[in-house]
Order: sequence, then structure tokens, then C-alpha cells
Amino acid sequence: MYVCICNALREKDVRRAAEEGGATRPAEVFRFHGCAPQCGKCACHMRAELLQSKTCGNCDCEDAAAVTANVAPIAAE
Ligand code: FES
Repeated sequence: MYVCICNALREKDVRRAAEEGGATRPAEVFRFHGCAPQCGKCACHMRAELLQSKTCGNCDCEDAAAVTANVAPIAAE
């Protein structure tokens, strides 16, 4: 699904900017993709997507790496 129509940025593009570029704000997403905001109508959706990319998707925690690091592997029998 498109987040930013003006720049043809999809949800996966926002997540990639967060994961690979460390983007935490819409301006950083635009910078990562080499574009700039036009109408600005995507800012709220983009912020929500950035917040979602910081979580594990199952709760409101903000450190998915810490959550998965605490999960003990299932022993093979
Ligand atoms: S929809 Fe993103 S700048 Fe217009």
C-alpha cells in the first residue's frame, strides 16, 4: 500500500528507511529515498508506519530486537 502518493513510497519503503537508514521521522524517510515532501498529507501515516517498524508487531514494545533476544530457542528432540 502506498504511504506517500507524491513520491510513490510504499509501506515497505518506509520500513526499509527505518531498518537500513535508521529513519525515525518522515524527513529522514524522504532523505533516505532521495526525495522531498510535496503535499505533506502522508506525514501521519508515515509516522505510524515508522512507529510500527520499531515494534515486534504483536504489542506496543519499542524494541523488537530485545523481545526476540529473550526468546529461548526450542530444543530439538
Ligand atoms: S503524499 Fe507524501 S508528500 Fe504528498
